[in-house]
Amino acid sequence: MKERETFASRLGFVLISAGCAIGLGNVWRFPYIVGQYGGAAFVLIYLAFLVVMGLPIMAMEFAVGRASRKSVIVSFQQLEPKGSKWHWYGWFGMAGNYLLMMFYTTIAGWLLLYFCKMVLGRFEGLDTAGVADAYGQMVATPGIQLLFMAIVVVLGMLVCSRGLQNGVEKINKAMMLCLLALLVVLAVRAVTLPGAIEGLKFYLVPNFHNLMYDGEGNFRLFRAIYDAMGQAFFTLSLGIGAMAIFGSYIGKERRLFGEAISVGILDTCVAFISGLIIFPSAFAFGVQPDAGPNLIFVTLPNVFNAMPGGRLWGAMFFVFLFFAALSTVTAVFENILACWMDKWAISRRKAVLANLVLIFLLSLPCLLGNNLWSGVKVLGMGIMDLEDFLVSNNLLPLGSVVYLLFCCVSDKYGWGYENFLKEANQGEGARFPGKLRVYFTFVLPVIVLIIFFMGYWDKFAPKG
Ligand code: ALA
Repeated sequence: MKERETFASRLGFVLISAGCAIGLGNVWRFPYIVGQYGGAAFVLIYLAFLVVMGLPIMAMEFAVGRASRKSVIVSFQQLEPKGSKWHWYGWFGMAGNYLLMMFYTTIAGWLLLYFCKMVLGRFEGLDTAGVADAYGQMVATPGIQLLFMAIVVVLGMLVCSRGLQNGVEKINKAMMLCLLALLVVLAVRAVTLPGAIEGLKFYLVPNFHNLMYDGEGNFRLFRAIYDAMGQAFFTLSLGIGAMAIFGSYIGKERRLFGEAISVGILDTCVAFISGLIIFPSAFAFGVQPDAGPNLIFVTLPNVFNAMPGGRLWGAMFFVFLFFAALSTVTAVFENILACWMDKWAISRRKAVLANLVLIFLLSLPCLLGNNLWSGVKVLGMGIMDLEDFLVSNNLLPLGSVVYLLFCCVSDKYGWGYENFLKEANQGEGARFPGKLRVYFTFVLPVIVLIIFFMGYWDKFAPKG
């Protein structure tokens, strides 16, 4: 049998896992959700979820990957007791990776397009309405989006086609280092803008009133908690085996909780510093920080228009966002390819060719949902929102519960806690807090499920 590929270095592993985690969730979703919920008060809840829930589940995913040496589609099969059905989840995990990419490729394409527009100075001279129009036109035009979505899919697959070490590891490492450098440069620029201080106050001084009540005075604390949990899952790409795959490519030199902490810290730093770029810039140029998902595409180009040297800063900003998105795309593509190679024993080349076509086709509904198919609504949602809802609000939390239970129940029913701990604690670094088994087995899944159902209630219960 062919030897499984491995990473060339620990830095490669940490940066690629961080690259999978760092994406639109950090640079796009995090700032706008924080903006909507009134800054630091929301960040505190989010951080709590990250620590009590995100890091342990990430360590569990890494452990399942490392012990099985397989991707999500077959990893459970390797470790489950005979006759059990855990391996069924492999299909859901794989579907989660596809669903994530089905809208991610379109948004990554927008970022690349905005980068090109910035370089070409296409926003120069436009007023606020002009910038909003440009966005509206882009979303309404399938052709241009198709081109950029296709470039994203081809780029991602090209990286993966070069193999784990020469492609995914080498290129993601370079991209992540560039991203971190750009992040620092942009943050220094933003916090030194005149008037930035108001943005820093909005971001960093907790406003519990905005957290608990919306603009019309409606109580919304539960929704904030739900969104904080969703953000923690989304940003760490938990529950669909997107992290587990990288565990399957490493040796036993390091303990896995320690590795999860390193990835979590990197991910949080990037999200936090993205806020340091966005809020001071928005306040310095008098634009609304709580504009929601449009913050990046409609609000921020105005900031760059008003800023001296804005074309350069804008181009740097969008290439930064694009690298964040592309690092996630390549990482998730790698997972999808590994599923095909593990399940059907085909070559990387064949898996790349098949998925190049498949992911391009699967990305079309989201892209067309913004224009030609804008009338299509399911449960009151457009296609992009529906895909995001299915993966972020369903597969990520429920999949995380699957990983939790698989690792924490006895080996009669699942992998077994002792087996999990043995795997997670091999090597050097921070130990997994093994004494908290009761919490992981009984408390954490219940918390996730309660918040999960609360989210459904909040979204679908009849209002009024
Ligand atoms: N973890 C990825 C992100 O934050 C999905 O965008």
